[in-house]
Amino acid sequence: MKPLWTAEEAAEATGGTIQGGPWSVGGIAIDTRELGRGDLFVALAGEHRDGHAFVPDALAEGAGAVLVARADAVPYGQPALIVTDTLRGLEGLATYRRLSTKARIVGITGSAGKTTAKSAIATLLQGSGLVHASAKSHNNHWGVPLSLARMPHDAAFGVFELGMNHAGEIRALVSQVRPHVALITTIAPAHLGHFANEEGIARAKAEILEKVEPGGSAVLPADSPWHDLLASLARSTPGIRTLSFGRAAGADVRLVGEEGDHLGSDVIAELAGRTVAYRLHLPGRHQVDNSLGWLAVIHALGLDVDQAAQAMAAIRPVDGRGVRRELTLASGGRVMLLDESYNANPASMRAALDVLARQPGRRVAVLGDMLELGAGSVALHEALAPAVEEAGAEAAYLCGPAMARLADRLPCAVAVHHAPSSTELLQLLRADLKDGDVVLVKGSLGSRMRVIVDGLATAGTGGS
Ligand SMILES: Nc1ncnc2c1ncn2[C@@H]1O[C@H](COP(=O)(O)OP(=O)(O)OP(=O)(O)O)[C@@H](O)[C@H]1O
Ligand SMILES: [Mg+2]
Repeated sequence: MKPLWTAEEAAEATGGTIQGGPWSVGGIAIDTRELGRGDLFVALAGEHRDGHAFVPDALAEGAGAVLVARADAVPYGQPALIVTDTLRGLEGLATYRRLSTKARIVGITGSAGKTTAKSAIATLLQGSGLVHASAKSHNNHWGVPLSLARMPHDAAFGVFELGMNHAGEIRALVSQVRPHVALITTIAPAHLGHFANEEGIARAKAEILEKVEPGGSAVLPADSPWHDLLASLARSTPGIRTLSFGRAAGADVRLVGEEGDHLGSDVIAELAGRTVAYRLHLPGRHQVDNSLGWLAVIHALGLDVDQAAQAMAAIRPVDGRGVRRELTLASGGRVMLLDESYNANPASMRAALDVLARQPGRRVAVLGDMLELGAGSVALHEALAPAVEEAGAEAAYLCGPAMARLADRLPCAVAVHHAPSSTELLQLLRADLKDGDVVLVKGSLGSRMRVIVDGLATAGTGGS
C-alpha cells in the first residue's frame, strides 16, 4: 500500500529539508500520546508547551519521522523534515494533499451539530467508497490541516469540520479545504463573546461558501432567520448551487412527516419531487432537522438518496453528544444517563432539554455553565428556565456562577441544587439518584461535566 507520505512528497509539499531519509510515514500525530508506530510527529508550538521538547520521546516511541522547525531538536541522522514553521509545514501538507486528491470534499460548519454531521455523513457515504473524516472535533487552525494531511491517497470522500471563535477563521480554513459541498448546520449564539450579534456569527460561518469549488453546492438551513443572508452571500461565489433543508415550505429537502419518541424519530422528507422515509436513532427535533441537511449533502454529491435513507438507521450519537448509558446504582436500581457532557450553548442546551422531555421516568437536569457567551451570558442562562420547566425536570442540579442565576429563576416545582463546581455537584447528585431516573448531563467543555458522567459511571453507581 502507498504510504501516507514519503519524505520526498512531504519535502515538496512544505519546502522543507529531509534528514535521515528516505523515510515514509503511515499516519500523522501532533501529540505523542496519540502517536502510532511509523507516524510523522509534528512538533507544534502550543500555548503552554513546545512540541519540540517531545521529539526525543516521539522517536523513542517509534515515530517514522518528525516535522520540526529546529534541526537541533533532532538527534543526528534521525528521520526528520526541517521547515521554518511547523504549523505552516502542516498546512503545506494539507494543501498539497487537497490539491492532489480525487476525493469529493464535504466541509461542515455551523453553531451546533458539526461533529454529529461529520460522523453521520461519513456513515451515509460508507457504501459509496472510502471515506476519510476529521477525527474528534478537529476543526481549528491545526485540526483542519491535520485532518487534511491525514487523508489517504485512495479516499473517495473527505469530510471535514470547520470551527471558529472569530471572524476570518473559517476563511483561512476553507482555503485549505476547498469543499465541493459546504454545509452550514445552524446559526445560533455560540462564542457570541467575540461577536457584536448573531448576524456577525452568520457572516463568519458564511465564509465557508467563499471557496466552494466551481459547480459545487452550498447546503443551507431553510428555517434559520439567516437563511436569506447566507443564500445571498453564497451568490458571490461563482458557479455555486444552493440547496436548502428544513421545515419551511420552500426548502429543497423538506420535512413532510415526523414521529418522535424517546429513542429517535421516524422521518419522511421530500426532495427533487420524491419522498424518502427513514428511521433516525437520535432523539430530538434538532436531529430531525440535522438529518435533512445530511440528506441534502448526499443529494448535492449526486449520490443515491434512497441508499442514504436506509443507512440513516446506522447513525449513532457521538461520544458526549447524546450517548445513552444505563447505570446500576449501588442500591441495585437503574438510572438512564444522557451524556451531553461534551459542550453546550443555548441552542444545544434547549435541544437536549427537548430530548429530556421525551424520556420516561423522573427527569433530572444536571447543567453546567455555558461559556464564551459574552455580556449576554446571565440573560441567556436565566432564559433557560421555561425550557427546564417544559422538559418536566423534577430536579435540577446546577453548577457554576452563571447557572446560579438560572437556579434563582426556576419555579419551586423543580427541586434545585447548586454547587460551585462539577466535582462538588457530583456528590450532591449521587446521594439523590433513584431507580428509574433519567439524568441529562450537559455544560460547556470548560464546565467539566464529564467529571459527573465518569463519576456516575464508576464507584457508587456501578459500570455502564
Ligand atoms: N441543529 C441543532 N440545534 C441545536 N443543537 C444541536 C443541533 N445539532 C446538534 N446539537 C447539539 O449540539 C451539541 C454539540 O454537537 P456537536 O458536537 O455535533 O456540535 P459541534 O458543532 O461539533 O460542536 P463544537 O463547536 O463544540 O465542535 C450536542 O449536544 C447536540 O445534540
Ligand atoms: Mg465539533
